[in-house]
Amino acid sequence: MQKILILDFGGQYKQLIARRVREQHVYCEVRPYDMPLEEIRRFDPCGIIFTGGPDSVYRPGAPRPDPGVFTLGIPILGICYGCQLLAQMQGGSVCAAQQDSAREYGKTLTHFDVGCPLFRGLPAESVTWMSHGDYMARVPAGFTMVARSDACPSVGICDEARGFYGVQFHPEVSHTEYGSRILQNFLYEICGAEGSWTMADFRHTAVAALRARVGSGRVLLALSGGVDSSVTAALLAEAVGEKLICVFVDHGLLRKNEADEVEAAFSRWPIRLIRVDAEERFLSRLAGVSEPEEKRRIIGAEFIHVFEEEAKKIGRVEFLAQGTIYPDVIESGGGEAAVIKSHHNVGGLPSCVDFQEILEPLRMLFKDEVRALGRELGLPETLVRRQPFPGPGLGIRVIGPVTREKLEMLREADWIFRSELENAGLRDQLSQYFAALTNMRSVGVMGDGRTYSWAVALRSVQTDDFMTADWSRLPWELLDRVSVRIVNEVHGVNRVLYDITSKPPATVEYE
Ligand code: XMP
Repeated sequence: MQKILILDFGGQYKQLIARRVREQHVYCEVRPYDMPLEEIRRFDPCGIIFTGGPDSVYRPGAPRPDPGVFTLGIPILGICYGCQLLAQMQGGSVCAAQQDSAREYGKTLTHFDVGCPLFRGLPAESVTWMSHGDYMARVPAGFTMVARSDACPSVGICDEARGFYGVQFHPEVSHTEYGSRILQNFLYEICGAEGSWTMADFRHTAVAALRARVGSGRVLLALSGGVDSSVTAALLAEAVGEKLICVFVDHGLLRKNEADEVEAAFSRWPIRLIRVDAEERFLSRLAGVSEPEEKRRIIGAEFIHVFEEEAKKIGRVEFLAQGTIYPDVIESGGGEAAVIKSHHNVGGLPSCVDFQEILEPLRMLFKDEVRALGRELGLPETLVRRQPFPGPGLGIRVIGPVTREKLEMLREADWIFRSELENAGLRDQLSQYFAALTNMRSVGVMGDGRTYSWAVALRSVQTDDFMTADWSRLPWELLDRVSVRIVNEVHGVNRVLYDITSKPPATVEYE
């Protein structure tokens, strides 16, 4: 398989570079900048990308790759810091840009030598996105300058014979107009990539590798119904069939039909799916508790108890599978070591299960690749496109004490809201949407009678990373329809509120 190696010098866009490369159907991995030369040889990349980084290449102790990387005969693309590193390590010189000279931030008009293979097919001028305070004062021997801005003559350099290219700007960000074409040129024209990385290939390779590794062993997986654990389960189901044991704890805090949907989705494989109906246990533990963190603690601890009981019945297993995905791996250093995912609803799990090894079959995939793999394996869209759903589930969306009746009201209201949004074709524009049951009752009038019933809050947000979020400007008519339906169809609710608070100052969830 053709691979690109991305050496990480601490740049904030390393994940984005990897995404862009994989979008071109070329497999890549992000590794630390000091990856030993022998390992690089074994990795056998068809091209290497140096990321940007916060340091300055002329500062003593600034991160550098093994200099042997330039002797492997493999094309290299240096981006920003990576470009300056390439220049400096090849005998050029880099220094801090003086004021009003070549320090550039943001969108910059750039002129390209379109005869250079990296810029083939580009117009002679376009906008690139820069973020650098250093510049290449002297370009190394054998290199030519192939892109310039009004402030800086050395925005792009290349040594075509050796396949070394450097750009001061960031081709991976969307503000660089022809960024993906530039990356495509590097991958296809310069590294000779063929674009053979597809989900169908990944599926076959991963299935074969899992079969070989698992052998006659048994694999245990805590299935939550979330995207990562569902796709992990489907891949393992395909690979090892009845050797896979999934424990699915139904804590009674799931959304309408969710538990049945999860069970139905896996019925086509000969796996052992243990669905534990633990609603009663969770609700009795939660009775009368209104403090949010206390609810979370109770739900998390009970989850582990239930899982532990099931695991004891199963006995010793050889493997424990986890749905760790690539962003978790990159963030924790990108090495080979297993990352124990501290997922809210499976926190601390491995310590209570008797197993030998951890399997993380999705550890090299980004979230949307995980979804694509789920589709490839035939999982339904309801699972593959599922939005984030908190481990403590509706337990933290019923504000205040949780009861079966309140959960029932919330399930119906949430179902109405979600179906109306989806029927209106808004699903892809919104990041997360749900209903919560407030802890407030208010006076209303229905028919000729006075009511004193609960208020439902609707929440819909748009966000890239869930660290900050903006509330969705939903059409009034849609909100009106949802409100009328909820009040008519959900007994016990007489008021519907729409949340117009961003995060911060609010959070996405209410508790
Ligand atoms: P907040 O409320 O912190 O939510 O703005 C950000 C994202 O995290 C999800 N969330 C949770 N997920 N266990 C989880 O697994 C939790 O306890 C939890 N609390 C919040 C939330 O749904 C949103 O996507």
